[in-house]
Amino acid sequence: MLKKTVAGLAGIATLAFAGAAGAQEPIKIGLLLPMTGPFASTGRQVEAAARLYHGQHCQTVAGRPVQILLKDDTGTADVTRRLAQEFVVNDKVNVLAGFGLTPLAFATAPIATQAKTPMVVMAAATSAITEQSPFIVRSSFTLPQVTVPLAEWASKNGIKRVMTLVTDYAPGIDAETAFKGRFTQDGGQVLSELRVPLRNPDFAPFLQRVADAKPDAVFVFVPSGVGAAFMKQFSERGLDKSGVRLIATGDVTDDDILNEMGEVALGTITTHHYSAAHDSPENKAFVEAFRKAANMRPNFMGVGGFDGMHLICEALKKTNAGAGDALVEAMKGMKWTSPRGPVSIDPETRDIVQNVYVRRVERRDGELYNVEFATIEAVKDPVKAAKK
Ligand code: PHB
Repeated sequence: MLKKTVAGLAGIATLAFAGAAGAQEPIKIGLLLPMTGPFASTGRQVEAAARLYHGQHCQTVAGRPVQILLKDDTGTADVTRRLAQEFVVNDKVNVLAGFGLTPLAFATAPIATQAKTPMVVMAAATSAITEQSPFIVRSSFTLPQVTVPLAEWASKNGIKRVMTLVTDYAPGIDAETAFKGRFTQDGGQVLSELRVPLRNPDFAPFLQRVADAKPDAVFVFVPSGVGAAFMKQFSERGLDKSGVRLIATGDVTDDDILNEMGEVALGTITTHHYSAAHDSPENKAFVEAFRKAANMRPNFMGVGGFDGMHLICEALKKTNAGAGDALVEAMKGMKWTSPRGPVSIDPETRDIVQNVYVRRVERRDGELYNVEFATIEAVKDPVKAAKK
């Protein structure tokens, strides 16, 4: 009898102790990013921004510490899949986040579904990503979302004959399809569609074809980090002085590497959802804090990381540190003012709805910037909007 009571008391003590420890149990966010390899600039930007947001607004939720765990996926799908599995099984993360390239998001989607773990895509931008799992919510953008406004701008600005040149993988195909669809609908002509390999791209033979055909403009998409190599070859071929206009998604004139591009980039017209030069108090504060924390200029990948953390942290707060489905539900329909401008999460598609800006590369205070001169408000992903 006595023995039983002692055992019972010990049991209660253990339970009470476990309860107290439970209250302090960290909330874990598993960040998967390319920290090495050709897409390391994306990893660097997203990590810096996520840590900045965490330090400013999200160190604890519901009395529990919030932890960011980071793994380098090297930009490879197989590695990402394995690391995502480890995050779910070993670390028991509450949220998976990051995803610097489309194939990495595709590789992880089945794991998110199976584990019922919310997966916040902060970077990758192929339209179809959010359809791969009901647990995916996206804080970045989609290629069609930023490309359709550029096709519209081109046809309104005297451009009639265009060649397209994109990186040959899903987001590039999305950009090519969206550009051609809208531009030809408005009466424009696409002379040919050029596709450059993702790994070790050599633009020279493709740019030669552009130089020979002399279209009014060449429309370009390359993923973040690759724009500097493209611009170098564009000027080496003399295309910047050939009268062929360069129009592109903002991925090409990425704020992180724009200054390295030099004179050749001046005057390039792009459309995108974020510029470090965006004129708002929220963006001024973001750019300043980012520079202080990471000693670099934020680009659109950075803002995707910052807003992705906002989305996660606000959903955690709203659900008192909830998980799984509840967390995804809390993200749907969320609205806030981002450094990029007003944004919301479309409750039907789990994609971000945001302004798209038309910009021109200009020099300001000795630095190159994407200077916004027109705004298309509250743009949804047009591919999913068309399916309805
Ligand atoms: C992607 O792989 O989805 C991706 C990567 C970089 C970009 C845009 C899209 O700049």
